[in-house]
Amino acid sequence: MMESFLTPKEAGYRVAVVGATGAVGETMLEILAERKFPVAELIPLASSRSAGSTVEFAGDEYVVQDLATFDPTGLDIALFSAGGDTSLEHAPRFAEAGCYVIDNSSAWRMDDHIALVVPEVNPEALDMARVNRIIANPNCSTIQMVVALKPLHDAAPIKRVVVSTYQAVSGAGRKAMNELADQTRHLLNGQAFDVDVFPARIAFNVIPQIDSFLDDGYTKEERKMMDETRKIMGSDIAVTATTVRVPVFYGHSESVNVTFGAAMDADTARNLLAEAEGICVVDDPSNEDYPLASEAAGSDPVWVGRIRNDNSFKNSLHLWVVADNVRKGAALNAVQIAELLVSQS
Ligand code: A2P
Repeated sequence: MMESFLTPKEAGYRVAVVGATGAVGETMLEILAERKFPVAELIPLASSRSAGSTVEFAGDEYVVQDLATFDPTGLDIALFSAGGDTSLEHAPRFAEAGCYVIDNSSAWRMDDHIALVVPEVNPEALDMARVNRIIANPNCSTIQMVVALKPLHDAAPIKRVVVSTYQAVSGAGRKAMNELADQTRHLLNGQAFDVDVFPARIAFNVIPQIDSFLDDGYTKEERKMMDETRKIMGSDIAVTATTVRVPVFYGHSESVNVTFGAAMDADTARNLLAEAEGICVVDDPSNEDYPLASEAAGSDPVWVGRIRNDNSFKNSLHLWVVADNVRKGAALNAVQIAELLVSQS
């Protein structure tokens, strides 16, 4: 039998949430409570700016502590969602103190020695974390796509994926959500507005740029989707992405075109997806029924619809994949990884 990750603790584990005042951190706290994660002690951490403020966990108020001066000795698990620089600086210090770090930033995802895990897709990758104790949570757009692709790939190997995303502003944090709300209000009232978080006005607009541009013309967000999908599902799959920000608060939508190396059709795919863990199929064109970000928001599954044969190419399908980017795309996936650690302890 494999050596366990954590020493089993009847009374529960000491868990820290780093970035507890942020959009994802707040949802991590909610989901830990909702799923009755075995928490003996909860420690919310953030920057010195919000140290001393309080956050709610399971009906109680907890005082936020300053990450910079916090001593991680004795912690079992830390869920990090405070940006890449914070993770680079503090995750190693937590891991060296014996704590498992589940990191939502992109800082460690493509490190060959770091596990990049979606529990429904590649739980076996977690083994790598026995050595270095840092586990990376993939990019939100990657997570929902690989959950939908995995059951199909198991039945017929995927050769190529072409994806275009329609991503909600919550993926860019609290300031980004405020920017959409403020711009919308100001525009409707004929007032001047600020453009700060996004590269262009996001209210009543569609922006084909998420993160900065690389030399090859792709953006960093697109590069993340392509590289992370291959790290999780295998480098035999060709992936190309266009990532787009839309004026939606919660819920990323994706148009995914998939080509298989063996026979696959829409009916087979619909049946496979309907049986798969973590997926809900909503696909009834006769009733104009398909997944919507507004309905996926606040929910846990990855929703798949518009499943149809791509008549332009053999063994190819179109899928429409929607999920709550803050839940399955970030906080829920991180908590599911923590649950895997505990279940293997
Ligand atoms: P703070 O409230 O102290 O700024 P969001 O993505 O919604 O903007 O949230 C980012 C989260 O990351 C917040 O909880 C924020 O805390 C935290 N954070 C940002 N920078 C740091 C840092 N240098 N050290 C610790 N936490 C940080």
